[in-house]
Order: sequence, then structure tokens, then C-alpha cells
Amino acid sequence: MTASSEQAGRSPRTFRTIGVVGLGTMGAGIAEVFARHGYSVIGAEVDDDAVERGHQHLTHSTDRAVRRQKLSEEEQAELLGRVSFTTSLKDLHEADFVIEAVVESMAVKKAIFQQLDEVVSRETVLATNTSSLSVTELSSATSAPGRVVGVHFFNPAPVQKLVEVVRTVVTEPDVLDDIRALLDTLGKSPVVCGDKAGFIANTLLFGYLNHAASMYEAHFATREDIDAAMRFGCGYPMGPLALLDLIGLDTAYEILETMYRQGRDRLHAPTPILKQMVTAGMLGRKTGRGFYTYEAADSPVVV
Ligand code: 3HC
Repeated sequence: MTASSEQAGRSPRTFRTIGVVGLGTMGAGIAEVFARHGYSVIGAEVDDDAVERGHQHLTHSTDRAVRRQKLSEEEQAELLGRVSFTTSLKDLHEADFVIEAVVESMAVKKAIFQQLDEVVSRETVLATNTSSLSVTELSSATSAPGRVVGVHFFNPAPVQKLVEVVRTVVTEPDVLDDIRALLDTLGKSPVVCGDKAGFIANTLLFGYLNHAASMYEAHFATREDIDAAMRFGCGYPMGPLALLDLIGLDTAYEILETMYRQGRDRLHAPTPILKQMVTAGMLGRKTGRGFYTYEAADSPVVV
């Protein structure tokens, strides 16, 4: 129970069925986290191919956990058995919490929120995993903006403990308490912040990542040395260029653009090489090539 609900003597709500819209890297990771903690998950995607990719993502990730003896084969089967898939948002009508993790496009997300609004009950909490778009604007696409909240997971979602909970000026305090309690049940460490592009972590992180890319662009140092400096000098688990490859250069570019448009902080003006690499299809791990070259998604660097 969180401090404010304790004070009010109110127990946080129990969620049972979780809808996840979009089963890309983040959505599939989020679905895995909920299923791993006993929730029934309904994963929605646009078509059967996308559903299949999401399904494979989950299988691949839980296979890894089995190989590392973090999960038994029986637990894996149970986990996967808790996830069902659909290509129709109407199938999310039973969910009491729905999180969308689709592309960073306001138009696409708004359309999804409008459809969800027609399908779910008024008690259902609608969340967005957006990393930089306005949660307030998204909430305005629904008939109950007080029940809309940002719930921003970090990549890889099954591993990173941080989740940013983004409150708008109209988010109901009880909803915030309930979501924090829900995230606690997943073993996550939620932090709460206001609705400003980048929230806490990306605002601080992306200036640094952008600077690293511009250092590489200026041939100031090799990619290996830039990354080694931050890993071995500052104790970061990954160097900035490897991290950009993990996040995806298209995603990173969009986040920087949005933050720059909103805040006009020069630190966030995307360095030109990012746009060039995105145009060339070098999106990082997901396409096998970014600052580094990869044998397959998530495989070690082959250089
Ligand atoms: N999915 C699921 N689990 C994964 C994973 C993945 N993609 N990648 C790694 N893991 C798990 C491994 O199974 C392992 O689990 P275990 O400890 O239970 O056995 C654990 O993570 C450690 O993995 P490895 O030993 O293979 O590798 P590392 O120790 O090098 O860790 C890392 C890999 C977790 C990715 C680590 O390097 C790291 O934390 N890097 C920084 C990531 C980061 O900064 N993320 C935030 C990006 S910003 C963001 O997401 C915001 C968004 O808006 C863009």
C-alpha cells in the first residue's frame, strides 16, 4: 500500500487481466513481465504476422530464462499459457488495465485510445508506454481522462526495474496509487513525474547519448573507445553507442526530436548521423546493424 492510500485508509485495487497493445520489443517485454507475475495477459497486434512476431519474442526471451535456469520449463509453459493473442481491440473488453506500446506516433496512439475507450469499462485504467509524447493529449482522446496514465518501462522491460508513472493534471490520485501498487507486484521500482517530454530518465539520458553519437560522428574516438570510457570509467553497464543500438536508432531519433521540439534544449537536437543511419535502415540490433553489427537480434557484437 502506498503512503497516500494508507493515509486515506483505502486498499489498492487488484488487477487481474492486462491488455497489451503492440507486441514489439517493449510490448512483448511488458507482456512477459505481467505473465511472469501471474496476470492473465491479452496481447493485441495489427495482424497475424505481427502477432506471430510478438509470440516469438516471448518464446525467445523465456527460452533464454530457461537456459539460464531462472525459469523451469514448467514455469515457462505456465507463463506462456497465461498470454493470449488477438488482432481485435474488442477482445480487450475484459481487461482492467490496458497498456499500449505501439510506435511513437500521436495519431496512431490516439486512434487506439479512442477505440479502447469504446470497448473497455469506465473502471479500466488506460496506460501508454510512450517515452516522449504528451500523455495529457492522449487522455483527451478518451471519455475518462482521469483514468489515463503514462506507464513507461525501460528496455529490456523484463530486466530494468524502473518504471516511470506519468501523471497528467487530471489523473485521479487513486489511479496513481493503484498503478504504483500494481507495479510493486511486478517487483518494479516506480517513480512518479509530471507530463513533460522525456520524463525524468530520458531527459537526462538522451542528451548524453546524443553527445556520444556526435563525438563518434566527428571521428573524435572510435565507437569501442567511446563505449569503453563510459563502461570502465563510469561503471555504466553498456556504452552509449551500444545502448543506442539496443534502444533502436529510429526510436532514439524520434525521442530526441520530440524533446527538442518541446524544450528547445540544444542538447536534444538530434546529431545528423542519427538521421542518416535511420534513413539507411541502420536501426541497431533490430535490423542487425547500427553503430555495431549483430549476427541476429540480441546476439553479441561481431564487429
Ligand atoms: N530480454 C530479457 N532479458 C534480458 C535481455 C532481454 N532483451 N537482455 C538481457 N536480459 C537478462 C539476461 O537474461 C540476464 O538475466 P539473469 O541475470 O536473470 O540471468 C540479465 O538480463 C543480464 O544479461 P546478460 O548477462 O546477458 O548481459 P548484461 O549483464 O550485459 O546485461 C543489459 C544486459 C541488461 C541489457 C545491461 O547491459 C543493461 O542494463 N544495459 C543498460 C540498458 C539501459 O540503459 N536501458 C534503458 C534504455 S532507455 C529506455 O529504455 C527508455 C526508452 O524510452 C527508450
